[in-house]
Amino acid sequence: MNNNDKITAVCPGTYDPVTEGHLDIIRRAAILFDRVVVGVLASSPRKDTLFGVDEREAMLEASLPSNTNIKVEVFDTLLVDFARKWGASALVKGLRAISDFEYEFQMAQLNRKLAPDLETIYLMASPEYSFLSSSGVKEIAKYGGNVDDLVPEAVIRRFEELFQ
Ligand code: PNS
Repeated sequence: MNNNDKITAVCPGTYDPVTEGHLDIIRRAAILFDRVVVGVLASSPRKDTLFGVDEREAMLEASLPSNTNIKVEVFDTLLVDFARKWGASALVKGLRAISDFEYEFQMAQLNRKLAPDLETIYLMASPEYSFLSSSGVKEIAKYGGNVDDLVPEAVIRRFEELFQ
């Protein structure tokens, strides 16, 4: 298989900040695909972010092993255009609960309309992360709660700087 035959998946998100749940999905996708591009959305129209995009990207990079089939890239376009740019055949996302389903179903159908040849694949969240969200950990950290098992070291350090 030469470089151009690599089957690529994109794991998109805002990653504000990355959680252990995100990392679990990214690592599992990297077992299934030749290459995983973690797409960090620069600016979300739906929500303001606590962390700037460079910081969100840096925390992801610090939390993922280097020299593997995983790379982190920022995007500020339609997701399908970003996926096309990397020659991806699939978008891979995590699904935690039925409450995720409606939003994800809508996104998957819109993306399918825009790019019929790009599959959206959902990996079930591992049980230990099925309750975990970036907004939840931000709230816990803001009020001084312990997020040690929920986010990687790089995020814990940033929370300490911000909230202590
Ligand atoms: O972690 P999030 O906030 O749930 O991730 C949302 C994300 C980045 C997957 C979504 O907002 C996205 O794909 N944005 C890029 C713009 C786009 O393509 N929107 C969907 C097409 S209608």
